[in-house]
Amino acid sequence: MLTGKRILIGITGGIAAYKIPQLIRDFKKTGSDIRVVMTDSAKEFVTPLTLSTVSGDEVIIGTFPEQSSGILNAGTWHITLAQWADAMLIAPATANTIAKIAHGYADNAVTILALAMRCPVIISPSMDTDMWLRSTTQQNINTLREAGYIVLPPAEGELASGLTGTGRLPDLPRIQKAVEDILGSNRKDFLGKKILVSAGPTYEPIDPVRYIGNRSSGKMGFAIANAATQRGADVTLVAGHVHLQTPRNVKRVNVETALQMYTAMMKHHKGMDVTIMAAAVADFTPITASNKKIKKNKSKSNRFIIETRETKDILQHLGSIKDRDILVGFAVETDNEINNAKSKLKDKNLDLIVLNNPLSEGAGFDTDTNIVTIISNGGKIQKLKKMSKHEVAHAILNRVSKLF
Ligand code: CTP
Repeated sequence: MLTGKRILIGITGGIAAYKIPQLIRDFKKTGSDIRVVMTDSAKEFVTPLTLSTVSGDEVIIGTFPEQSSGILNAGTWHITLAQWADAMLIAPATANTIAKIAHGYADNAVTILALAMRCPVIISPSMDTDMWLRSTTQQNINTLREAGYIVLPPAEGELASGLTGTGRLPDLPRIQKAVEDILGSNRKDFLGKKILVSAGPTYEPIDPVRYIGNRSSGKMGFAIANAATQRGADVTLVAGHVHLQTPRNVKRVNVETALQMYTAMMKHHKGMDVTIMAAAVADFTPITASNKKIKKNKSKSNRFIIETRETKDILQHLGSIKDRDILVGFAVETDNEINNAKSKLKDKNLDLIVLNNPLSEGAGFDTDTNIVTIISNGGKIQKLKKMSKHEVAHAILNRVSKLF
């Protein structure tokens, strides 16, 4: 899979940098072509001489590299390298470099290339647990993911400081496998395909200020839309109320209520090759929404009863009118998961259903990772381990592309 692939490795100044020469040797053994760029701080942990020896090429450091040989021209080396690579891997990525890339800085060889790349950029953070958990770092990680960077979750275990926690560079085979999977899914296998994706929650109004909603962040549906457009699809995304940036080249339709989502899905569904319902549609909506703010109940009962009725099941309806298009649903289940998901797959006439249990750690709503099982109408059950929503999105699309 990696034979002949051109991988650009960016190294920044974290202690795990000492592991990268071995990673380069492992990549080279697969037949991939490696070039290395590094920050000045990275030189404190691993020498350019070691890296150029194992990679077999000069190492680029700084904004204006001194020696420019081979394919590189002094003024435009960054563009040449950006066009040369099939993937860029930044490992270890420090909190500082993550913050810079998240905010568009281009002040050294690694950050310049992270900005210039057209191919997938995979970022493997490694740092002390407290630095990783700091809200500013987590916000930067979210920004990176929304901008289309792929962030590998750091591993848990013993850290260089002697403390134990999250922040270790993942084992080298795990990093290599992630790069391999991403390069494998970087095919343009959805070129010419039209995909409709729904994402996020629906809000059902009670009055002008209150609503019935749910915890969906929309991240899974947005990751699918992003992955599908990377693979060449023409993507329309129907999104509930979420705070996410629209992936590049994706047409976005914003909705609030289940009824609006139903109307939008029906409008755009015609002519689609694939429809994926990742939205968490409210099952019930208030029968009437007050047009004035409802005042606190002055009666003695201390109760406020909202009468609701079921919303239209959008996926069920899409299943009932399904022709040759591929239909994928999600199932959120907290018990008897496989059987319940299989029933939904059959009842809604789906090709695939993606099952997740929001009670599992690292799965479900408002997380950056998910643990899913993909079940096909042919009965195949594929259990996936905990992975980033970006990786889950590609795994789902891999299954969809087999159905074309
Ligand atoms: N769905 C839908 N319209 C609804 C409710 C759900 O299109 N009104 C879709 C969801 O987007 C998801 C699938 O149906 O792809 C399953 O949703 P889920 O909440 O797991 O199940 P429900 O069908 O709503 O059944 P229940 O809540 O009873 O488990």
